[in-house]
Amino acid sequence: MTDKQRKELLRSQQGELDAVLMYNALAKAVKREPDSATFKQLAKEEGRHAQVFHQYTQTALQPKTLKSRLLPMLYRLLGRRLLYPLIAKGEYKAEKGYQHLIADFADVASVAADEKRHGDTVMSLLNEQ
Ligand SMILES: [Fe+2]
Repeated sequence: MTDKQRKELLRSQQGELDAVLMYNALAKAVKREPDSATFKQLAKEEGRHAQVFHQYTQTALQPKTLKSRLLPMLYRLLGRRLLYPLIAKGEYKAEKGYQHLIADFADVASVAADEKRHGDTVMSLLNEQ
């Protein structure tokens, strides 16, 4: 892999690790139990994504806590109807951002597919009462 690819895989791995903390923090902060259960599940899947990137980078990274501190605050400030679309947007952006890696790093395909599903899942929470 090129230096540029390695940097991008490391950046992706970091983002996935940070997302684990973020979704677990959200799972604790949200009021509705179905939302909490969903975010716990998404946290697990982000953990798998981090492992996929780790397989390529063979480098251990430490998660950063910024988003895990920010998102519960935004939840309290904005509420779920405003915040969840922002989260979904991030997931859809990740799905698109990963596409060009798939040719050289095939396992990224399942990660990208998950991000799309995550976006849909978070949006679907808003269809519930
Ligand atoms: Fe992910």
